[in-house]
Amino acid sequence: MAKVVITNRIPREGVEMLEAEHDVTMWDSEDCISREKCLHMITGADAILTLLTEKVDDEFLDAAGDQLKVVANVAVGFNNIDVAACEKHGVVATNTPKVLTETTADTAFGLMLMVTRRFGEGERVIRSKTPWQWGMFYMLGMGLQGKTIGIVGAGQIGIAMARRAKAFGMDVVYTDAREMDPAVAKEPAARRVDMDELLATADVVSLHCPLIPEGQEGSTFHLIDADALEKMKKTAYVVNSARGPIIDEAALVEALENGEIAGAGLDVFENEPAVHEGLLERDDVVLLPHLGSATVETRTAMAELAARNALAVLAGRSPETPVTK
Ligand code: DGY
Repeated sequence: MAKVVITNRIPREGVEMLEAEHDVTMWDSEDCISREKCLHMITGADAILTLLTEKVDDEFLDAAGDQLKVVANVAVGFNNIDVAACEKHGVVATNTPKVLTETTADTAFGLMLMVTRRFGEGERVIRSKTPWQWGMFYMLGMGLQGKTIGIVGAGQIGIAMARRAKAFGMDVVYTDAREMDPAVAKEPAARRVDMDELLATADVVSLHCPLIPEGQEGSTFHLIDADALEKMKKTAYVVNSARGPIIDEAALVEALENGEIAGAGLDVFENEPAVHEGLLERDDVVLLPHLGSATVETRTAMAELAARNALAVLAGRSPETPVTK
């Protein structure tokens, strides 16, 4: 029996799969475990299941010990994991792609609808008991049909967002190192463009790329900075369901204040869970508390996939979804 540690509460289905074969200890709380307690708890573990709130670096891997074989992240994003450090320690790192694609694209699409049609603002009017009346020009938003969405990062979630956008009559442009799957890119055509063209033409810029830290090749840290925001149309919106630090939040607040763009829909934040004060009072911004993959079905599927990955490595097999740099 191997020692498996889970650093935060995850759905029972995943835990039970691990318990059927191994000795499992879970930090059974929805509050994040402190670093100190975490480093203590993982000591001697053969497999560790982590959430995106857990920083997996040299300190973490050293604390676990040389017997550690696998870190299975219960998230598709793995910017919390130092993959090079894992390789150095001979530890396999895995993530949970595919199972959360549609749910996260739903969140991104919901944000886009909410901000362009001013649904968040409208809801606040009712809840705050602000007087209102139907009016021909009352709270008009931007319709999506015939507009252009600019998808930054045409991986699985970007493609799922493109599919939704097409169904709503939008034109799709995208940036990615690779061409989009031809089956998705045709009818109506999704056009691959460079970032400058995307920023200049999109009515909604939707972010679906991974967060690649500053200083690393292909870094996406502050990809949407003051310069990028200035290149966008004054009538355009930015939607972020990927990772907060892809947007320079201070620059975003300034761009909104100066009317350089029309609004933003954000599910993720630069210093999560803190949110830039300048965003909180703005009606042209929709804010969600990182709900991208938050459905019962998806979180269960994520826990099960992470469990399968850990079990595979412990049994000497290849995991289904190792992280790839
Ligand atoms: C992920 O899996 O990376 C998501 O952000 C979690 O919701």
